[in-house]
Amino acid sequence: MGRKILVTGGAGFIGSHVTEELLGRGYEVAVLDNLSGGGADQVPAGARLYELDITESVESAFEEFSPDDVIHLAAQVSVAVSMQDPEMDARINVLGSLNIIGAARRHGVRRIVYASSAACYGVQDRDVLSEEMRCVPASFYGASKYAVEHCLLSAREDSGLEWAALRFANVYGPRQDPHGEAGVVAIFARLLLDGGQPKIFGGGELKRDYIFVEDVARAVALMLEVELDGCEDPIFNCSTALGTTTNQIYELLKVACSSGVDALAGPWRPGDVQSLILNNTRLKRLLDWAPRVPLEEGIGRTAEYFRDAT
Ligand SMILES: NC(=O)c1ccc[n+]([C@@H]2O[C@H](COP(=O)([O-])OP(=O)(O)OC[C@H]3O[C@@H](n4cnc5c(N)ncnc54)[C@H](O)[C@@H]3O)[C@@H](O)[C@H]2O)c1
Repeated sequence: MGRKILVTGGAGFIGSHVTEELLGRGYEVAVLDNLSGGGADQVPAGARLYELDITESVESAFEEFSPDDVIHLAAQVSVAVSMQDPEMDARINVLGSLNIIGAARRHGVRRIVYASSAACYGVQDRDVLSEEMRCVPASFYGASKYAVEHCLLSAREDSGLEWAALRFANVYGPRQDPHGEAGVVAIFARLLLDGGQPKIFGGGELKRDYIFVEDVARAVALMLEVELDGCEDPIFNCSTALGTTTNQIYELLKVACSSGVDALAGPWRPGDVQSLILNNTRLKRLLDWAPRVPLEEGIGRTAEYFRDAT
């Protein structure tokens, strides 16, 4: 048997792909998820499921499964919800993460790989963002994601727990929630396939960095295999470093969904103030990794998934 990996949030979009990737690499995998966002049907066969909440006791999973490493993806994932209820966001994303970190320390876990976010950066005066830039989160979600990076730093100082944080750009692909607030590829694909008319806000010319979920899953898995000794600041952007406008995404989706429908024009939304592209040089160097799935292919595969899921 391979090393044992506990994936929190493994019933969700990114977590289910990470679990699949790990099983394919010969790891023994267990998922810890309260199924508030993901579904038991998304947990890949071969992984056992602990239906637990990260804000409550997670001892049973750590005691019974005894993981070597933890991949921590479970979270409250909505920026809008974080603005409406910052305490709830912090309870899940900060206190829940501290609960996982505490259990990891008590149970001799070697390393935590943590799902951080581009939301840590907030509003910057540059379009391409690098890890050394000072973070000024513009949402409570961004602030909670950023806070946990610091908690992991403290845990390492105190107990030697190894960690790495991956700041994901805009992840897209099969199994993303098409009814969520973000995830424009999934939302538009679902609408176009159902004969709806998507709305593009603010002209659609802002650029975002879209990365296919399988490329993210591979980076997460590789994070378990590299040496982190001597890495003072193990925070890495996980991205393509390429900018694509919403209008370009829409055109690719129209082709992939065989639709002739033009998008509606929506107003400029407060907060949509800049293009957001993440420099990925550090991650590429550390992991000898690079995104493999070009946007056109990824969008085609996503549309195919939603067509079959009708
Ligand atoms: N999707 C993106 O583009 C993106 C970008 C940046 C960061 N992230 C981060 O990646 C991670 C995974 O996001 P996703 O897009 O797969 O979202 P998702 O909602 O599909 O997955 C989150 C999973 O966490 C579980 N969960 C939520 N609260 C929980 C709790 N209290 N206890 C146990 N499980 C709980 C949900 O049931 C779900 O299965 C999150 O930490 C998110 O903040 C995602």
